[in-house]
Amino acid sequence: MQAAAQEGKRVNLTMNTPAAILWEQGRLRLLDQRQLPGKVEYLPIEDIAAAVQAIASLAVRGAPAIGIAAAYALAAAAQRSAAAGRRRSAETALQAVLQRDGDALIAARPTAVNLRWAVERLRRRGAAEPTAAALVDEAEAIHREDAAACRAIGEHGRGCIKAGDNVLTHCNAGALAVSELGTATAPLYLNHQAGVPFHVYVDETRPLFQGARLTAWELARAGIGLTLICDSAAASLMAAGKIDLVIVGADRIAANGDVVNKIGTLSLAVLAAHFQVPFYVACPSSTLDWSAASGAEVPIEERAEQEVRQEHAALVPAFNPAFDVTPAALVTAVITERGLAKPPLAESLKRLHDASGELSRH
Ligand code: MRU
Repeated sequence: MQAAAQEGKRVNLTMNTPAAILWEQGRLRLLDQRQLPGKVEYLPIEDIAAAVQAIASLAVRGAPAIGIAAAYALAAAAQRSAAAGRRRSAETALQAVLQRDGDALIAARPTAVNLRWAVERLRRRGAAEPTAAALVDEAEAIHREDAAACRAIGEHGRGCIKAGDNVLTHCNAGALAVSELGTATAPLYLNHQAGVPFHVYVDETRPLFQGARLTAWELARAGIGLTLICDSAAASLMAAGKIDLVIVGADRIAANGDVVNKIGTLSLAVLAAHFQVPFYVACPSSTLDWSAASGAEVPIEERAEQEVRQEHAALVPAFNPAFDVTPAALVTAVITERGLAKPPLAESLKRLHDASGELSRH
């Protein structure tokens, strides 16, 4: 009974997906997504090295989730530093944590801008209010705002899906990658709750299978009808008229609207343009990087060759870029918590941004 109650606390009850990030009594625990769907296990994060390792190894992954995890990890480091009460002044120690540990977290993965965004937000708060309690408050605010952004994305995006549609998605931009409803999955979850019938084709997403291991698991637990496909099956499905729209997430969107997302997203966007299938990108405004003029300026993470070879290939050279850049011209709309940005994206994203009255401060 007690175990069930505890599990209930950990579970995002709306979607039945375990929370990716737990912050309880000042302690951070991360759902180890490398073990899904086989095992639901939480990693205790006791120091910055453990947080960096969890982010770099994809124990926690997905652009918004790594930002939230980094924010809590920094806040916890500040709490430990305050408790240690060294010779140096508490404020100097806190600024050192924000610089040194913040840099280590930002370096853990280079592509998703949410990581840098979250660290910089804590640094600004720490400069204005140099206490561990203020940093904890800021990290909790980032987490809360993210959940609210997902819901708003779902509300703005739900009209993109009509009854009977077949939706294609790539990688995992779901609850596991964000909080609560996810980004690309938010319109799916809200429509499903409202009883709108639709079907989802889930790309397996080589080489790390975020689609097969995570999205398929998440959607199935929510009772959404889905079919898992090899990434290479998308073209023939579109050619057969079996896909009505594509929805993906994003790791970073440049000022001109270029979308950086999981490797294979560009292939889908090119196919969608060819077969005249709408191609939507869903993300919170923390994913917009106004300092990058175009996708060409975004660093693309290259991961280990062995992730591509796995056990299927001999020890031959492999190339493993984790992300690709989809030109803005191939995007039907970007669904944000502030509304839909439609082409030309450079102007419409800027308009949404200005209208919000709040700067993402990239
Ligand atoms: O390498 P990953 O698993 O972190 O890549 C995740 C993605 O590419 C997601 O589509 C993106 O971060 C958006 S998550 C809402």
